[in-house]
Amino acid sequence: MTTSKNLLKNRSNLGHKVRYAVGNPGRIAPYLKRTARDSWLRLKHPDHVDYYRAVMASDTARNPEAAVGSKTHDRWLALGKMQFDYLKEHGLAPRHRMLDIGCGNLRAGWRFIEYLDAGHYYGIDISPDILISAKKTLTGYGLQEKLPHLTITQNLTLDFLPEAHFDVVHAHSVFSHSPIEVIDECLANVGRVLAPGGFFDFTFDRTEGTEHQVLREDFYYRTETLTALAGKHGLKARFMDDWEKRPHGQSKIRVSHAD
Ligand SMILES: C[S@@+](CC[C@H](N)C(=O)[O-])C[C@H]1O[C@@H](n2cnc3c(N)ncnc32)[C@H](O)[C@@H]1O
Repeated sequence: MTTSKNLLKNRSNLGHKVRYAVGNPGRIAPYLKRTARDSWLRLKHPDHVDYYRAVMASDTARNPEAAVGSKTHDRWLALGKMQFDYLKEHGLAPRHRMLDIGCGNLRAGWRFIEYLDAGHYYGIDISPDILISAKKTLTGYGLQEKLPHLTITQNLTLDFLPEAHFDVVHAHSVFSHSPIEVIDECLANVGRVLAPGGFFDFTFDRTEGTEHQVLREDFYYRTETLTALAGKHGLKARFMDDWEKRPHGQSKIRVSHAD
C-alpha cells in the first residue's frame, strides 16, 4: 500500500521538536503559547475528557471551525464532504441509522443529516461549546425538519443508547485526540449498539514507529494496537486501504461484529 504519510516521525522527541522549530520559526511562539495553556488546563483537569473539553471550550471560543481542525471554511467544507462521500461510496443509504461520535460542529454531520431520513442521525460530543456551534450549523443549513439528536456525553459507555440500533457508527478525528483508555471504553461498548451487519469506522493518527502523544491533544497509534483492542472485545477490525488514497493525514479502521 502506498501512502504519503510520514509514519516513523516521533513528534514527542526533542530532536524532532528542535528540527521542526528551526524549519518553522514562525510556529515557535504559537506552540509555546499552546503548551502553556495546555499545561495549565491539565493541572486544572487531571481527567482526560475534562481536560479535552476545556481545550475545546478555549478553541471554540476563538473559531469553531478551527476547533474541529479546519483552518479555513473551504477546508471545513472539503473535510466534511470527504467523510460523507466515503460513507456513501460504502453504501450509506437514507434508511440507515447513524451514530456520529465526536460530531463536533457538524462539519460532516450536516451532510449526513440532510441525506438520512428524519431522526436517523445521532451526534454525541463531550463539548457543550461545540454542540452549541453544531446547532448553529444545523440552523444555517435549514435542517430543523430532520430532527437530529445532538447529545452531550461524559464517556463512551454508550449506555443511554438502544441495543443493536445503529447501522453505521462513525468517529472522525476523535481517537486521534484520545488516550488508549478512551478508545478501549468505546470498543468495549460499541458492539452492543451496532445493528447486525453494521460497522464502526474510526480514523486515527498512525505511526509505524513508537506510539506517542503531543500535549495530550494528539495521539499516535500503531494499526495493530487498535485492531488487537477491537479483537479483545470480540470485534473484527479491518484497515481501510481505500481511505489512504484520500488527501487526509489520518488512517481509517472499520470494526464490525466478528461473525
Ligand atoms: C477534531 S474534532 C472532529 C469533529 C467531527 N468528527 C468532524 O470531523 O468534523 C474532534 C471532536 O471530538 C470530540 N471528542 C473528543 N474526545 C471525545 C470523546 N472521548 N467522546 C466524544 N467526543 C469527543 C471533540 O469535542 C471534538 O468535537
